[in-house]
Amino acid sequence: MANPYGHFDDERREYVITRPDTPWPWLNYLGQDDLFGLCTNTGGGYTFWRDAKLRRLTRYRYNNVPLDSGGRYLYVHDGGTVWNPGWKPVKAALDRYECRVGLGYSRITGERDGLEVSQLVFVPPGHDVELWQVSVRNTSPGRKQPRLFSFVEFAFYEALVDLTNYQRTYSIGEVEVEGAAIYHVTELRERRDHYTVFACTGPVTGFDTSREAFVGVHEGLHEARVPFSGRATGSIAHGWNPIGSHEVSLDLEPGEEQTFAFVLGFVQQGDLPKFEAPQVADKRRGREFVARWSAPGAVDEAFAALNHSWDELLDGFRVECPDPHVTRMANTWNQYQCMATFNLSRSASLFESGIGRGMGFRDSNQDLLGFVHMVPARARQRLLDLAATQLSDGTCFHQYQPLTKKGNADVGGDFYDDHLWLVLSTCAYVKETGDVSVLDEPCGYADVEYPVRSDGATDPRESLLHHLETSIAYTMAKRGPHGLPLIGHADWNDCLNLNCFSTEPNESFQTAGDVAGSQAESVMIAGLFLAAAEELAALYDHLGRPSDAHRVRGQRAEVLAATEAHGWDGEWWLRAYDAAGAPVGTHADDEGRIFVESQGWCALGGAGADGRARQALEAVETHLATPNGIVLQQPAYTRYRLELGEITSYPPGVKENAGIFCHNNTWIHLAWCRLGDGDRALAGYLSVCPSAKEDQIDTYRLEPYVYAQTIAGPDSPTFGEAKNSWLTGTAAWTFVVVSQGILGVQPDHAGLRIDPCIPRSWPGFRVTRRFRGATYEITVTNPDGVSKGVRSIVVDGRAVEGAVDGAVVPAAPAGTVVAVEVVLG
Ligand code: BGC
Repeated sequence: MANPYGHFDDERREYVITRPDTPWPWLNYLGQDDLFGLCTNTGGGYTFWRDAKLRRLTRYRYNNVPLDSGGRYLYVHDGGTVWNPGWKPVKAALDRYECRVGLGYSRITGERDGLEVSQLVFVPPGHDVELWQVSVRNTSPGRKQPRLFSFVEFAFYEALVDLTNYQRTYSIGEVEVEGAAIYHVTELRERRDHYTVFACTGPVTGFDTSREAFVGVHEGLHEARVPFSGRATGSIAHGWNPIGSHEVSLDLEPGEEQTFAFVLGFVQQGDLPKFEAPQVADKRRGREFVARWSAPGAVDEAFAALNHSWDELLDGFRVECPDPHVTRMANTWNQYQCMATFNLSRSASLFESGIGRGMGFRDSNQDLLGFVHMVPARARQRLLDLAATQLSDGTCFHQYQPLTKKGNADVGGDFYDDHLWLVLSTCAYVKETGDVSVLDEPCGYADVEYPVRSDGATDPRESLLHHLETSIAYTMAKRGPHGLPLIGHADWNDCLNLNCFSTEPNESFQTAGDVAGSQAESVMIAGLFLAAAEELAALYDHLGRPSDAHRVRGQRAEVLAATEAHGWDGEWWLRAYDAAGAPVGTHADDEGRIFVESQGWCALGGAGADGRARQALEAVETHLATPNGIVLQQPAYTRYRLELGEITSYPPGVKENAGIFCHNNTWIHLAWCRLGDGDRALAGYLSVCPSAKEDQIDTYRLEPYVYAQTIAGPDSPTFGEAKNSWLTGTAAWTFVVVSQGILGVQPDHAGLRIDPCIPRSWPGFRVTRRFRGATYEITVTNPDGVSKGVRSIVVDGRAVEGAVDGAVVPAAPAGTVVAVEVVLG
């Protein structure tokens, strides 16, 4: 069944939404550097600079009624009727509606009564501006004189204050208007050195800056006074709620089209004085900004630059293979989502309010795995930022704010998996780039006071490599009675809280309990540690430090022995031991008998090479797999269990309580690749793939172009319904699965290792991979219909010696093109 709400336009790398009343607002992101916008298919959303909590430029009310109201709106007043090209907020019927979701832009087009209005919104690379290019076309046989009204509601930058502290905010709002530019200058007089400007390059005939004047007090956005009256009032906001609105009057002959732009910018004063006269903001930077974006061709050039940047980014990895979902997702949408998760971690989406969580430590380290091939330099900086939020004993702040890069003290640390992800991300970066210098970068610890230099900056001493050692040592030091790693507040599964024991609804499951002296252990962390320790040992091999490699492998061997001795339940891996020493995830329990995470990580960490790794994956197939993905555990918990925490607080079938948590599905897919079953890997991949959900979209409900965090499991009445799209570790890990697992193109220290694991029915595939500046054109053929196993590799016509089971193609000089022919068998 076709999706009634839209379709992919693979040629143009767009998703085309053809009905505005999607089952949930479908989102896109604008911006990839400092200025970001969230933009739904009806123009809803908001804009912020770097940090959705601390620098919110425009206002948005989450979970509003109606949902998703507030955004970058255009009202059209034409012949007595009022409508929006994006349908909302007026919701007047449109003769035609389309939203083209593109890479870093959305183009929303509405047509009614012979007038077509199209709004292309994007943030060009490297600029703090959101551009709306608007084209208005008269498709009727007669002359038309429509009026357009733009609308944004300004936010007072600090999003929580903006949405809560009205005794202050109703009094602070200030604006200035100069020509077609509206300046939002609230708090400039005090500690801010920035403002927001909203300007228009079209024929502006009026403006409003007061929400009361534009919307009214008792009216909603769908019945806003000014567009319905057809005339701007020229209002100046004094306190209350400043907005930006322009009135644009057009006169169009039949067939005529006019194009102009609205520009929304974040302007920093830098060293300029704040005021040019008493109470008058110094607007020099703002004027330069408006002039720059009003110049003929500026917006078109910026859009071309955006498209070019995505060509470049996606050129780093391209595949042609027999599966259309793999091709589409891996080439475009999966990588696109990896950019969003890298930029925003778990901060701002339609499910994350931009106020709660900043950058997650474990999240950002994992996000990096799917991004590092795109812009390695940014990944490098991220590693150093992350490491700097670690404490000297190995504890990591679980989250930090992107603007300040300081750890969030409310949540604190003591999630005993966090530090290990830093080992994986750092090694992934070094393998991708060959840049071992990053290991020597001083990044210090958050709890150490370093000498202050003359320029005010501190001089941290310990290197990134020191952090990796600290991380390994931390797990070694924090082991429980079975020799397995302690869990702390939680491991990857934030809701498995074995030290919480909360009977009080007003406290956080994660941080309420005390972890000091706890005995609760995690088998998942054990598997993760095995993988991380092997990565670090391999790094030492590469650095020519065999004794360090040997030492780390010794530590790994200790944890491996404990895992294999105490982590096995009989048919699968246990999940944990609780604080009282009772096993979690055991056949002996009535609920929560088998969990997915430890099955995945023990395999990825190399435990159970005696056959138990495979047996555990088979158990996942038997007990946890569904057509919509693998559920997190079974049977679902039906009662609250104090000793297990938040996981048992959810209704059965959702989130961590037996929901399909797509993120951890990927570890199973990757594990099947390691064990050589490409049919299962691909089947698993497709079971959670959004582009494969179009035929059940009214159940699935979310965007078919990006992964969601969860899909309701069979224990839920809403089985198959997705939640929390966009900001999920599923994006990065799926890219690892498809690029390194299934297609088997694996960055390694010495070069590119080629070790595919594909469905037996695939005759082959092609991958173009940029790696350390060279381009590899890889052709894989599968004459014998195998899943895994490399028979030969020929590089530029010369056979690679000993190319069995994944030989490494040596890194070629930057700028060269390398032809790699691989035969499986
Ligand atoms: C968090 C992750 C966590 C996962 C599983 C997500 O919401 O961002 O850090 O690992 O939930 O609980």
